[in-house]
Amino acid sequence: LKRVRTRHFQSAKENGIPITGLTSYDVQTAGIFDQAGIDFLLVGDSAGNTVFGYDTTLPVTIDELIPLTRAVASAATRAFVIADLPFGSYEVGAEEALHSAIRFMKETHAHAVKLEGGVRSAEQIRRIVEAGIPVMGHVGFTPQSEHGLGGHMIQGRGDQLDKLLADAHAVEDAGAFAVVLEMVPADAAAHVTKELRIPTIGVGAGPHVDGQLLVWTDWAGLTAGRIPKFVRQYADLRGILTEAALAFRADVADGTYPGPEHSY
Ligand code: KIV
Ligand code: NA
Repeated sequence: LKRVRTRHFQSAKENGIPITGLTSYDVQTAGIFDQAGIDFLLVGDSAGNTVFGYDTTLPVTIDELIPLTRAVASAATRAFVIADLPFGSYEVGAEEALHSAIRFMKETHAHAVKLEGGVRSAEQIRRIVEAGIPVMGHVGFTPQSEHGLGGHMIQGRGDQLDKLLADAHAVEDAGAFAVVLEMVPADAAAHVTKELRIPTIGVGAGPHVDGQLLVWTDWAGLTAGRIPKFVRQYADLRGILTEAALAFRADVADGTYPGPEHSY
């Protein structure tokens, strides 16, 4: 199978072929999603929540994400692997952003980086792209600035549409190959998707975008507690693993595991 490249994102948009992406943080899920034909794997700073147990993505560091990204890249034979730049690794300026992107490219085998922000991050995107590293943008709700945005809130409603459009255009003009639209109304996402030449990837942005991305632990029913309204849960891994753990406990308790076939 041929490796997915940035030009495939572009041709997918031009030909109306929807793009699929999932987050991944480890070699097992990366291998499964890659084999299933998921087009790109994002090693998101959502690892702060899904792997490390933080309340937000803010504490996540490059040092934490590098080994996860390396694991995902090692398993992906077809999927395009994107490293997420964590909070504090690119905001100070283009120079810092480029240093951070270079670390991911040298220390993992990721194919691109992603960073949050439109107009405010345009210089950073431009500088990284000039160095030959593809960049995925991320506008709408940007979790790294949730305190500044006043919480987990839909962006781009009503008179915020102009800001969303300006941010999306800034990302495109800076040279990004695609842009994530997170938690924006479906009609706003449709508007952005129509105006942009580069593909839009929706996370809670409705159906009128060029691709869909979900956090795999939400998508597969592994997350404990509430998951966002926009997620369709495709499996019940939490239920399956709970059943398995209960069965294992019971078998050990009553002596049915291990059986003769498991013994040397
Ligand atoms: O970190 C992440 O998983 C993300 C996506 C949800 C867009 O940034
Ligand atoms: Na992220």
